[in-house]
Formats: sequence, structure tokens, C-alpha cells
Amino acid sequence: MNAPDTANDSKPMIQRHIQAGAVCCDTAWEEAYQRFESPEEEIEKFIKRLKSMGLVDRPRNIRVVELFCGRGGGLIALKRLGFTKMEGVDLSETLLLQNKTQARLHLADCRKLPFKDTTVDAVIIHGGLHHLPQLPDDLEQVLFEIHRVLKTDGTFHAVEPWLTPFLRFVHVVVETPWVRKVYDKGDALAVMIEHERETYEQWLNQPTIIRQLLDKYFVSRINRIAWGKLQFTGVKI
Ligand SMILES: C[S@@+](CC[C@H](N)C(=O)[O-])C[C@H]1O[C@@H](n2cnc3c(N)ncnc32)[C@H](O)[C@@H]1O
Repeated sequence: MNAPDTANDSKPMIQRHIQAGAVCCDTAWEEAYQRFESPEEEIEKFIKRLKSMGLVDRPRNIRVVELFCGRGGGLIALKRLGFTKMEGVDLSETLLLQNKTQARLHLADCRKLPFKDTTVDAVIIHGGLHHLPQLPDDLEQVLFEIHRVLKTDGTFHAVEPWLTPFLRFVHVVVETPWVRKVYDKGDALAVMIEHERETYEQWLNQPTIIRQLLDKYFVSRINRIAWGKLQFTGVKI
């Protein structure tokens, strides 16, 4: 049976730190993102990830912030795992408005976080850094901000795409026209890649500098590459 966390029809409360209208991705991308997975599939995936990235070892009353939170599947996953103080940050008001959680939401740019220094216990990203327009500068700025807001023993947990043989294979498959015709999820992924190609390829092509920047701000506890993803958990240096 579904938990009531997805049955909330009231409008989410959004604190606006920037003007609405700043988006990173066009309407076609947002439509494909919503077609790629159902909210329930996405929440299950996030729960598995949060378990494997060690967040579940932390007390449930810590302050957790999810960056690039989109429509909020990750915040629902946190709630189902028992966390009680969650906040989400995203640039897209359209996606924030689809949130069905009681979490506090911030319309803000992750390059300038709307939180005071050393006030957050854990920061999570489920795919967002690969949307940053300027690498490595924007990545450095986001990691600097995460480091600034985290408490001394704060943890950072991120999952991002990573160029492995498996991911190369997925790219070939979903860009095959007949596959796109018969496999809607594959077509959605191909549309997303088409519409984020510049930042996505920029991200996939700079693995060394990305790792160097992660190591500059965090002591890594989990640093694993599998199935075309990097899973990273680090403690603030
Ligand atoms: C791939 S989606 C991931 C959404 C969510 N984490 C998920 O997996 O469902 C990337 C999200 O990053 C947001 N975004 C992109 N650039 C941003 C920025 N500079 N600051 C805040 N959010 C940003 C987009 O609006 C989008 O919701």
C-alpha cells in the first residue's frame, strides 16, 4: 500500500531565493524526465541508493538537504527511510511545484546555497552536477558551497553518470531509431541526452578533474563506479 507521502494534493511551500523562470533544461527535457520513470519507480531507486551510500547509518533527526531535487522523489525516499528534517533545492519552479512532500523547498541555484555556514548534517545529489554549464568552475563552486554549509562531521552523498563500457552501450542502444519506437523509456532517455548533450558530455569527459575536486573538499568513504554511475560518499575535510 502507498504511504500517504505521495497523496498530498496541497501546493508545496516554496521559498524563493531567485526569480522563477531560471531553468537549466527545456520543456522537452522536463517532459522526457517525467516519462523516463514513474514517481514510484524513482522513489524505490532512491531508497536503494540512500541505503547503499550509507545515509541510513545516520540518525533520523539530522538536517538533510537534497540539491537538484527536481520533482522530489528523493525527498519522499528520505521520508520513507524515517528522516524527519528534509529540504530540497532546485532551479525549476515547474518541478518544485510537483513535489508531494512536506519538505521545505528552495527555489535557488545550487551554486549559491541559501543556508548559513555549518548548519546542515548531510547533502544529497541524485544526478544534477552533470547539468552545470561551466566545468570545472561551477563544480568547484557547488562543492565549495556544500562544504561551507555542512557541519564539521557532515556527509556528502552523490550519484552522477559516469562513462563506463555499460554507459557507452546504453547510448548506442537508446540512439537506435527502432529501439526508440518500441521502448518508451529508452526514447525518453535519448531525448534527455539530446537536450542536455553539452553539459552531459562535458561532465562525462572530465573524470579526473571531477575526482580531484571531490577529494579537495571531502574524505571519500564510498567511491564506487558501477553500471554507468559514480556513487560517492564523503565526509567534510
Ligand atoms: C537530472 S534532474 C535530477 C532531478 C532529481 N535529482 C531526480 O533525480 O529526480 C536535474 C535537476 O537539476 C536542476 N538544476 C539544474 N541546474 C541547477 C542549478 N544550478 N541549481 C539548482 N538546480 C539545478 C534541474 O532543474 C533538474 O530538476
